[in-house]
Amino acid sequence: MIEAPICQNILDLPGSRIRVVSRASADIPDLIKLWFGEGDEPTPEFVRRGAAEALARGETFYAANRGIAPLLDAIAGYLNRAYGVSVPHERMVVTASGMNAIMITVQCLVEPGDSAVVIGPIWPNGRAAMKAMGGEVRDVFLRAQEDGRWKLDLDELFAACDETTRLIMINSPGNPTGWVASEAELKAILDFCRERGIWILSDEVYGRIIYNGARHAPSYYTLAQPEDPVVIINSFSKSWSMTGWRLGWIVAPPRLCTAVEKMTEFNISHPTTFVQWGGVAAMNEGDSYIEGLVERYRRAADLVYQALAPLPRVRLAKPEGAFYAFFALDGMTDSVEFCKELARKARVGLAPGIAFGPAGEGRIRLCYAASLPKLSEAMERLVPHLR
Ligand SMILES: Cc1ncc(COP(=O)(O)O)c(C=O)c1O
Repeated sequence: MIEAPICQNILDLPGSRIRVVSRASADIPDLIKLWFGEGDEPTPEFVRRGAAEALARGETFYAANRGIAPLLDAIAGYLNRAYGVSVPHERMVVTASGMNAIMITVQCLVEPGDSAVVIGPIWPNGRAAMKAMGGEVRDVFLRAQEDGRWKLDLDELFAACDETTRLIMINSPGNPTGWVASEAELKAILDFCRERGIWILSDEVYGRIIYNGARHAPSYYTLAQPEDPVVIINSFSKSWSMTGWRLGWIVAPPRLCTAVEKMTEFNISHPTTFVQWGGVAAMNEGDSYIEGLVERYRRAADLVYQALAPLPRVRLAKPEGAFYAFFALDGMTDSVEFCKELARKARVGLAPGIAFGPAGEGRIRLCYAASLPKLSEAMERLVPHLR
């Protein structure tokens, strides 16, 4: 029998290194798991009620590819309150998660032979989407400064682009770094991309999780014009604690939304109808929930920073946004093995830095979206092993 082939691009995709650690640690009792990007509280009640009522009403039928009209209205209302912008339906598509938003957008923008420039260290799935489409990924890494803060070199970013480059991917506030791009940096990238006809894939799923007291991080919602080559990726996962729901949205120029809508038909048709009603409740009733969440994450960031930053082997800047501490540990060379050992010895599950690309090796990511008592306990367990 001749073996029927599977696409080489897909076979070549690396598996998740976080899952390598989590699988190896599956039988450890009483493990505090801070390796994935989510908290430990279920979705707020008002969101669950929105979906449950929709299910009880029988909202179980096929719906429009772009998303149900009440959700498009609710997202527009939310964006107006949070960012002061007015976004018409023709610039939005509802997606089944942030990841789905990235994948479908990349399906519309990247062909074999194209390149995509990615600002890292970054959550690996966006890079994988580009590779799955046969694109070449070019990494431009933020540099850790003396004080641990991250810095983008714009010249290096622009030098990585050439005539094959279809998009620049930027994730601010960043997972895993907590880096927040300045408005000036975002504007400079926009000017460059306008001139060169390059898309900006702006992953803003942590856009509201920022600790300087601002309502949102610098954002293309306020900086880009409707026809600019900018796609903003958003998700209900992080700011509304809805990771398991798989719901997100994009904002992009109408011509790209038309293409994304087409690909939505061929991927998922549309996100689950009654789940979208949960999204309506999140958008309409969630503003004070986000404020409370950010306040809690601010206290969690302080707790983790105060426990880890004084350790002589640890280098950690206070995160500016998102909900991760991405610390360097002097003397550690294999983060996967180290995290496996840490899970066994300290009973705390963390994510190895190598999961976020080669520039992440020597580091570990800790998600501090868990409750404060759980984090305190995790710090007590961890500190002796990081000295
Ligand atoms: C930077 C970033 N973008 C996108 C996502 C995708 O979120 P989801 O697919 O849950 O909406 C994540 C999830 O961890 C993330 O960290």
